[in-house]
Amino acid sequence: MINVGIIGFGTVGSGTVRILLGNKDVLKERLGFEINLRKIAVRDIMRVRDVKVPEGVLTTDIDAVLNDPHIDIVVEVIGGIRPAKDFILKAISNGKHVVTANKALLATDGNEIFTAAQDAGIEIGFEASVAGGIPIIKVIREGLVANRIKAVYGIINGTSNYILTKMTDENVEFSVALKEAQKFGYAEADPTLDIEGIDSAHKLAILAYLSYGIPIPYKNIYTEGISKISSQDIDFASELGYKVKLLAIAKATPPSPPYQGGENGGVEVELRVHPTMIPKDYLISKVDGPFNAVYVEGDATGSTLYYGRGAGAMPTGSAVVSDIVDIARDIKKNATGRIPVMVKTIRDVRIKNIDDVISMYYFRFSALDKPGVLSKISGILGNYNISIASVIQKGRRIGEAVPLVVLTHEAKEKDVRHAIEEIDHLPVVMDKTVFIRVEGKEEG
Ligand code: NDP
Ligand code: HSE
Repeated sequence: MINVGIIGFGTVGSGTVRILLGNKDVLKERLGFEINLRKIAVRDIMRVRDVKVPEGVLTTDIDAVLNDPHIDIVVEVIGGIRPAKDFILKAISNGKHVVTANKALLATDGNEIFTAAQDAGIEIGFEASVAGGIPIIKVIREGLVANRIKAVYGIINGTSNYILTKMTDENVEFSVALKEAQKFGYAEADPTLDIEGIDSAHKLAILAYLSYGIPIPYKNIYTEGISKISSQDIDFASELGYKVKLLAIAKATPPSPPYQGGENGGVEVELRVHPTMIPKDYLISKVDGPFNAVYVEGDATGSTLYYGRGAGAMPTGSAVVSDIVDIARDIKKNATGRIPVMVKTIRDVRIKNIDDVISMYYFRFSALDKPGVLSKISGILGNYNISIASVIQKGRRIGEAVPLVVLTHEAKEKDVRHAIEEIDHLPVVMDKTVFIRVEGKEEG
């Protein structure tokens, strides 16, 4: 028997407990031994929970979990940096293996935690930290271990995807869709993390760490969220044949392995999170609601795609339990540390500056409806080597501001920013220009 103690009994804690209790027999059959839920530490023992647990399991004493010599695995599902970090470090120093869903903590203090675990011969499971029920951590660490990873990208925040889907398909207002996502347990305790792209950046940091050996570069990830996306832009995107999705992208660019250099040959990696317009007929455009999808491109496998529920109690609980089971197996076989916590191939990695990223762009100018305006704007774009692919102007309101929508061919981000700054100073431009990066094939 392997004993588990859980700290936190909210959305993820409840899903985990529901699975551990409800699928106890299945887990026992598959493992050949029992996983026993010994303790759950909470703040408020009187709170009514929607999952019933056996008498004596709930406690408000964290040390009843961290210091119990019978507990083999501690699950941290409270979230946040402190006290979660202290609990995890104490569990490690008490010789207990750890499972956590806390991507914010790993993206901030992952190096310290992983080093402490490695030094103590402790396993850290963090499958639940990225993409909910999709076993993407296992995919990169185990399934694709033979590959050099060329790119990892996709939709990795369920809340933002839920909001964008509701705005696109049902014209639901941003704030209403966010409230629904919170009600379903998809959102973080502080939903700013979801809608400002920070949660995606946390997850991307973890994926980049596993893929490229970059020591958790969360603060260096260019991050833009969906809070400024308006239904007007969603409608224009749709008219042009696109959907707006919050993408997280990690991409090795030349010089990149296996083509250049050796162990320390140097890799340049693009790391960015931002709303992106994607052609409607692309698979990733069809990933809707709380679902996530992650592409991983290996040098041997080529492109592979993983799809599933990215948030919520049961999908995330499934990921937590899969870590518990993996660690339990390793304990029983005396094989803890079978898959090292630390990525050993930390290389000389340069993170590409967002200014140097090349993309196609959507611009929505708010320009006066009068002759010569388009030529002024296109003149400035031309001066910065930005070439126009298509233009639409909606409505005729002579002398008033109307939306002027432009799609560009590939351009450099730095040029785009300079051009927009200049355009926004034109007396015929009445509001700040909106721009969204566009993915897809260049036409022509
Ligand atoms: P919730 O807010 O639903 O639950 C948090 C739980 O932690 C509550 O039960 C709370 O206790 C307990 N708690 C908070 N602080 C303490 C403390 N100091 N001591 C003891 N218990 C404490 O959060 P979620 O379950 O949504 O998220 C938990 C973690 O999982 C976070 O790191 C989150 O980022 C991550 N995650 C969440 C997903 C989701 O879909 N929600 C998906 C993937 C990861 P009490 O009930 O008494 O208030
Ligand atoms: N708040 C997160 C999301 C939970 O919406 O994706 C899953 O990590």
